[in-house]
Amino acid sequence: MKTVTLSTLQAFKRSGEAFSCLTAYDASFARAASEAGIEVLLVGDSLGMVLQGHSSTLPVTLEEICYHTRCAAQGKGSSLLMVDLPFMSNSSLERLLQDAGELMRAGAELVKVEGEAWMAEGIRELTRRGVPVCAHLGLTPQTVYQLGGYKVQGRDAERAEQIIADARTLVEAGASVILLECVPASLGRAVTEAVDVPVIGIGAGPDTDGQILVMHDVLGVTHGRTPRFVKNFMQDAQSIQGAFLDYHEAVKARHFPAEEHCF
Ligand code: KIV
Ligand code: NA
Repeated sequence: MKTVTLSTLQAFKRSGEAFSCLTAYDASFARAASEAGIEVLLVGDSLGMVLQGHSSTLPVTLEEICYHTRCAAQGKGSSLLMVDLPFMSNSSLERLLQDAGELMRAGAELVKVEGEAWMAEGIRELTRRGVPVCAHLGLTPQTVYQLGGYKVQGRDAERAEQIIADARTLVEAGASVILLECVPASLGRAVTEAVDVPVIGIGAGPDTDGQILVMHDVLGVTHGRTPRFVKNFMQDAQSIQGAFLDYHEAVKARHFPAEEHCF
């Protein structure tokens, strides 16, 4: 695989070729995912749940994310390395800039931040300083206590319109990528059409430019109930490498997500 950059993702958006993304938290799994052709790796704060066993992403610290970023960066190969800003990194502009700087020094090539239109200023200041940003909209797990649980977002027209408007605002502010979590497939399509940057979906239907899943869900080792949008690719694979390859190929062929994975 040629080195994946933001330009690669923009070209995918223009040509309509889907791309695959997967979380990675260490060098070995990052290498396996990259060798399978997966274009974007995310050091997600989901590590608080799948590695640390917490019931939310809130306990994860900047230091912990930096540690896993340094690990994943060693195995990322040609894939693009995206990294989550942890809960409360957006508590002030100064902290946001400082935390994003730490992630970039640890090996991030794109930082992901949760937050709606009010994140525009932060995103503008980050991009001004050479830090590319992915804006995470829809179900934002860092606000799970305010949302009242991990629920589908934008089922009603008003909230759907708000998510589309937020995506436009954040792209105008400089966001290079939008990530959309747990929304109806129709809204996934609408946001993808509304902005000219790549949109990555998780539980956002088949029409987003890219798809992402948590690695543990792809391998079927997640504890407890998994969301509807998840597929265990290990069931029909002989190896972890094979499961990653099947996931990548299913996304490229737009066979995943299928109807049963969508809202
Ligand atoms: O932390 C994470 O893994 C994420 C993905 C679910 C998008 O934010
Ligand atoms: Na996350």
